[in-house]
Amino acid sequence: MKIVAIADLHYSIDSDESSRAEAIAAAVRDADADVLVVAGDCAAEGGDAVGAALAMLADFDGPRLMVPGNHDLWEDRPPFHTRRIYQQRLPEVAAEHGFTMLDQGPVVIADTAFVGCMGWYDYSMRQQTAPREGLTVTPIAVEPGEESGASFSAVPGAEEGSWDGLEAADYAANGLVWQGDGSPRVAVWNDALHLDWEHDAAGLARCFADQLRAQIKAVGDRARRVVGVTHFVPFVELAEATTENPTRAFARAYLGSPLLGEALLEARELALVIYGHRHHQRVVKVRGVPTADASVHGRNEGPLLLTLPE
Ligand SMILES: [Fe+2]
Ligand SMILES: [Fe+2]
Repeated sequence: MKIVAIADLHYSIDSDESSRAEAIAAAVRDADADVLVVAGDCAAEGGDAVGAALAMLADFDGPRLMVPGNHDLWEDRPPFHTRRIYQQRLPEVAAEHGFTMLDQGPVVIADTAFVGCMGWYDYSMRQQTAPREGLTVTPIAVEPGEESGASFSAVPGAEEGSWDGLEAADYAANGLVWQGDGSPRVAVWNDALHLDWEHDAAGLARCFADQLRAQIKAVGDRARRVVGVTHFVPFVELAEATTENPTRAFARAYLGSPLLGEALLEARELALVIYGHRHHQRVVKVRGVPTADASVHGRNEGPLLLTLPE
């Protein structure tokens, strides 16, 4: 079975990037694959771009499977309707273009079951070692402000400290003031400005992992092997290497959750895991399982063609 996979197209209707998206869609169509898998972040900023991106990919002749990414849930300004977009709008948009959103349930094709969901982050992939010596950091709460800007406020009880003293819960505020030699800088996780689950992130990651487990159970004996699909990074081994850039080190907390990978490993035969969100295409084995970051975000990244043995 041949699978063509992409992630992180980040399509934006008003940009001049459409020729690149069209070229990727053409490469997907011509890949001569049996199944198309889209692992999230079709759109740069949610809205109509999700459907427009899926419409471009709808020329692929064969089963078309997708999970959304965080950017597919984005709205310009509050009030946010994140849960409704995830549960209602995106499955409808997917269906409109002949895609099955795996979050709705597993799909069995021949002898292979595709299980999947977007997943979420739980800050456990955060960089624990300080990017540089002598940095001081203070968590800061980020919320949408006027005219799609950000508004900042102090986190009750948060004090200036060292990077090593940061805990998972500090990342829930979605912002970090850091200071080295120069003036203070602020790192922001932009999901805070464009979506709101009204639920804590760690709990969300657990729910998504449970969803994968339930899908694996539902497949039962209907397939001899399982392909897992998530948007967020499912194994800690796949997190970026330690970085000296404090802003990038901050973003590591939002990479994904190892709970997703643990749930997938409960499949009797996990043949492949496809994911995205890191924006760095890579195929590597983790705990004996082939994993593929299907990013097409970089200029030189195109669709990945993955072959499962017959
Ligand atoms: Fe992305
Ligand atoms: Fe993402």
